[in-house]
Amino acid sequence: MAGIKTLGQFIIEKQADFSYAKGELSRLLRDIGIASKIVNREVNKAGLVDILGDAGTTNIQGEGQKKLDVYANEQFISALTSGGECCIVATEEEDEFVPIDSPVSKNAKYIVCIDPLDGSSNIDCNVAVGTIFSIYRRKSVEGDATLADVLQRGTDQVAAGYVIYGSSTMLVYTTGKGVNGFTLDPSIGEFCLSHPNMKIPENGTIYSINEGNYVHFPDGVKQYIKYAQVEDLATSRPYTSRYIGSMVADIHRNLIKGGIYIYPTTAASPNGKLRLLYECNPMAFIIEQAGGKASDGFKRILEIEPTELHQRTAIFIGSAAMVANAERFMVEHSQPQGLPNIAEEKLEQLGVIGGID
Ligand code: AHG
Ligand code: MN
Ligand code: MN
Repeated sequence: MAGIKTLGQFIIEKQADFSYAKGELSRLLRDIGIASKIVNREVNKAGLVDILGDAGTTNIQGEGQKKLDVYANEQFISALTSGGECCIVATEEEDEFVPIDSPVSKNAKYIVCIDPLDGSSNIDCNVAVGTIFSIYRRKSVEGDATLADVLQRGTDQVAAGYVIYGSSTMLVYTTGKGVNGFTLDPSIGEFCLSHPNMKIPENGTIYSINEGNYVHFPDGVKQYIKYAQVEDLATSRPYTSRYIGSMVADIHRNLIKGGIYIYPTTAASPNGKLRLLYECNPMAFIIEQAGGKASDGFKRILEIEPTELHQRTAIFIGSAAMVANAERFMVEHSQPQGLPNIAEEKLEQLGVIGGID
């Protein structure tokens, strides 16, 4: 066992870093780790048991739920209920937030926002899927926690993470002091520290976007895609296109290799498709902590003021230089003339070369 550090050991070790409610946050992260192992078990035997396919129900966003969506949702809510550290779970799969009403969670201090299973469309064909979570402190001090406790800005997150059920299963999380990745060792059933202090390359050559929607993209995105496809040795273009269709998997790859992931507004989704509270904010927190950048094309994702539980936003996330460059295209091509170029200064700071035609 020499040299191996489990997620549990690591959390306890790092507990001293938390300025607030040390034991509680550690236990909450542990509960999420346990639920993700149960989901992982089910994902791994999907195909052998009757867990593939549609559940025959839809969620609040009108999306058909898969059996694994429903299963993962139940597992996380159940682990967070018995863990006792969480007073509300806000999940993609439930119309309203779920108050956790158990004797052990009476004084619970945390709110969890979760996408229990990300990349549902990939479940039935053995392609990587994930779980995304975000943790906030409860703000209200008495009575039942309310929607206002859930609608906090991304900058208020105390922790965020994702699990990728891929060729191996990994849990990656941050508590605002860097990003660490743990790979599940199936032989001992433990997440083991495999990627300490993860950093996203400042620049990259991968762009990830569902180009099938090209015709419905804003001009800035169309121009950025053209830029990505033009040959230019100095900026290593043309870039490589990689799109899995599971946000977790696409962003995880870009975190390791460098790249940009974009889900812009489209004609079909004028506010973007991805959800602020349980997809964009947690991924933005992680990527910023790894040295990257996350924007809606004009401003920082983490500073968006949430007004609704299932609020959506456009997202440009990944290597800092690439996101700053894409922001510049958005400003130049999508905004009325005369607005200040908010990304220009950043580009200069980052030393990014490459003009906009
Ligand atoms: P979910 O499965 O949780 O609903 O999320 C799906 C999201 C995200 O994972 C992915 O990147 C994106 O939807 C893919 O959307 P398109 O199929 O429109 O490209
Ligand atoms: Mn999702
Ligand atoms: Mn989902």
